[in-house]
Amino acid sequence: MYTVGVITASDKASQGQRVDESGQLIQKMMTEAGYQLVKIVIVEDDREKLKTAMIEMADEDKCSLILTTGGTGFGPRDITPEATLDVAHRMAPGIAEAIRNYSMTITKRAMLSRGTSVIRNQSLIINLPGSPKAVQESLEFILSELQHGLDILNEQAEECAR
Ligand code: MTE
Repeated sequence: MYTVGVITASDKASQGQRVDESGQLIQKMMTEAGYQLVKIVIVEDDREKLKTAMIEMADEDKCSLILTTGGTGFGPRDITPEATLDVAHRMAPGIAEAIRNYSMTITKRAMLSRGTSVIRNQSLIINLPGSPKAVQESLEFILSELQHGLDILNEQAEECAR
């Protein structure tokens, strides 16, 4: 069973002005998919605070997977992709590409998400957009392939049979 940490990047949710529906949805979807939730945190749209949250989840909590939601758009405070790249050891662009690719079949506004996906040590970090609708659509599309990626990252699988 792989572990997952969830980070909601939102000024409003971090100040209690908005319910963190997207974080709760990720928690529900991942638990149902058989992942063990380690931690769910709400962080303001601040590059340093987001970096700290990601580093803690990767290096101390040893989360296999870290899913972020929010802060991927063009708003002046949206900074999640930059914070994610700051903590990256290796790039894993295909997952973010797949999310945008599939999402573009639903709404052309998916091109406005700047989300990225990277590897830090043994942790895979994936940015999801902020709305519950976008989270649902993005996560259900990539979910089936994450296990294999995590198996390879953790040296539990060597070969791709397909
Ligand atoms: N992706 C999917 N699958 N569905 C959506 O409704 N909304 C888009 C995009 N990605 C959307 C989506 C919109 S409108 C924006 S502005 C960007 O995600 C950025 O969202 P964020 O700033 O909340 O992270």
